[in-house]
Amino acid sequence: MKVFVTGVNGYIGAILAPYLMERGMTVLGLDAGYYRDGWLYSDDRRLASTPLTLNKDLRHITEQDLQGCDAVAHLAELSNDPLGQNNPQVTHAINHAGSVSLARKARAVGIRRFVYTSSCSVYGAGTGDFLDETAQVNPQTAYAECKVLVERDVGRMADTDFSPVFLRNATAYGPSPRMRFDVVINDLSALAWTTKRIAMISDGSPWRPVVHVQDICEAIYRSLIAPEEAVRGKIFNVGQNADNYRIREIAQIVAAEFPGCEVTAGPPSGDNRSYRVNFDRIHAELPGFSCRFTARDGARQLREVFERIQMSSDTYQFRAFTRLKQLKYLQATQQIDGDFFWR
Ligand SMILES: NC(=O)c1ccc[n+]([C@@H]2O[C@H](COP(=O)([O-])OP(=O)(O)OC[C@H]3O[C@@H](n4cnc5c(N)ncnc54)[C@H](O)[C@@H]3O)[C@@H](O)[C@H]2O)c1
Repeated sequence: MKVFVTGVNGYIGAILAPYLMERGMTVLGLDAGYYRDGWLYSDDRRLASTPLTLNKDLRHITEQDLQGCDAVAHLAELSNDPLGQNNPQVTHAINHAGSVSLARKARAVGIRRFVYTSSCSVYGAGTGDFLDETAQVNPQTAYAECKVLVERDVGRMADTDFSPVFLRNATAYGPSPRMRFDVVINDLSALAWTTKRIAMISDGSPWRPVVHVQDICEAIYRSLIAPEEAVRGKIFNVGQNADNYRIREIAQIVAAEFPGCEVTAGPPSGDNRSYRVNFDRIHAELPGFSCRFTARDGARQLREVFERIQMSSDTYQFRAFTRLKQLKYLQATQQIDGDFFWR
């Protein structure tokens, strides 16, 4: 199977491409390369194979680019809430319009499978109850709104010739060379390593589901190979019920993996994003899928990487490991224009 993977140079994409190739798939990548300045480690042999990659913007993909592919795994978007809020107009142009247009082109050239990386942030400000895929969505940001709109518009394209699958991923964690320190477990682990102190800026009461980056890759892989009837037009929350935590519990789990690290709480915050997610459907209905890792495993693996590379504070703070910082830098230095195209 030849898979067109967009966002192949991102945090998840850098793990996904070798993951699929190891399982016998051919990958053709695409990425605009916004975060290419950041590469945390190079000594993992499993990541040695890199796919042929088009250095191109999602908004410029042509049907020609997609010819010969059997499936699309679509990851290339502005990839979190703060990033989306930074410029809602560009977020809509890339994340909503760009994604729907990619799906249309894929369908036009006869690609039958389209796996979309949505997000549990579509649930927005929840009540703390467990939400499953039938729950009302409640997006709080441009990023989450776009995820809902893509699910709606691409969902409508599902028919006997086209099987889109929507993976609502929990917040990812775990090592990737194209590191992100703007996701909670990675951030707190780096804080614990560099300062031996996790000073939370809030009281840590909101709920967050989290999922290991390799378990996201497994969900994408299983969505690519599942029988069409098992996945066509379906939405799956990606994670496991046991990996729903309050932020303060996450801080404790991380601290336990970094000897000598203390945790302090701050005042209640104005951030009202809090949700617990039910992950029964993916385990029951996506053939072969299960999660292999827990938050504790992720924190331990991160400590092992930080130890191996003797990670410094400067590396933790480096702009390219925090998506919003890097895009602001590319704008301030006029490397990208107001629409986020390279100049
Ligand atoms: N990491 C998470 O916690 C998480 C959780 C839920 C959903 N997701 C979704 O998974 C996908 C991948 O997330 P990630 O963490 O790897 O993000 P990332 O920011 O690390 O990677 C996204 C990649 O897409 C590329 N990209 C962005 N806009 C592009 C454009 N216009 N044209 C071409 N390439 C472009 C970037 O250069 C980057 O390499 C995203 O759609 C994200 O919303 C991620």
